[in-house]
Amino acid sequence: MKINLNPEKDPASKIIVALDFPTAIAAINLCDRLPEVSFWKVGLELFIADGSTVLRELKARNKKIFLDLKLHDIPNTVASACRIATKYGADFLTIHASGGKAMMQAAQAEVRGSTTQLLAISLLTSISAQELASDLKVSVEVPEYVAEMVVLAQKSGLTGAVCSPHEVANLRSLLGDDFCFVTPGVRPTGAALGDQSRVMTPKQAIAAGANYLVIGRPITAAIDPVSAWKQICQDC
Ligand code: C5P
Repeated sequence: MKINLNPEKDPASKIIVALDFPTAIAAINLCDRLPEVSFWKVGLELFIADGSTVLRELKARNKKIFLDLKLHDIPNTVASACRIATKYGADFLTIHASGGKAMMQAAQAEVRGSTTQLLAISLLTSISAQELASDLKVSVEVPEYVAEMVVLAQKSGLTGAVCSPHEVANLRSLLGDDFCFVTPGVRPTGAALGDQSRVMTPKQAIAAGANYLVIGRPITAAIDPVSAWKQICQDC
């Protein structure tokens, strides 16, 4: 069954916790400490460390999986990787919109009919406006580039995109209600920012139009992840 893009009833079901760990054991330990968390994100670090073990263990616990691999390659290679990801039972999988329409369409063709839905990465938030212009030679401003990439993803048939909570209201008005927005850069009131600079609280991000929130260190690096999770659920 496909993911519900508007899980409005229970705010906790909108939270995807990022399993940014170097080993499967560390990741599964946290998963078992937080049985109420239904949706987990597996990124490159953990996937390269021991991806198949982690994905199998998450599925065995009936969890939803956001496989954040940010794929970017020629269409045939990305499409083949997406086909394998459907076999893992991933619910969301990320690919870079800058790989182009042919790459996104080829990827989308491979996941059609499966439970895996593709999300586009528009522009890494680590790329500054200056880098975009001087190094990548992109002549439009960051917000316009992000909007162009997300519109291209929608035209290519993707389900949604990952974006900053500060971009989501504008993108929502451009793309309509059926497009799914997943936002990292979320911090509960008073939490450490880490390396995130432009953040919103969970409540603000949902009010701005996010369907799902990705939260990592405020839970995973907390002294008491269980109470951090509970506090965040209350803040939603
Ligand atoms: O620990 P934190 O809450 O910052 O983690 C957020 C997760 O979302 C991490 O796995 C990170 O890779 C991802 N992410 C992000 N900022 C983006 C895109 C993705 O923090 N712009």
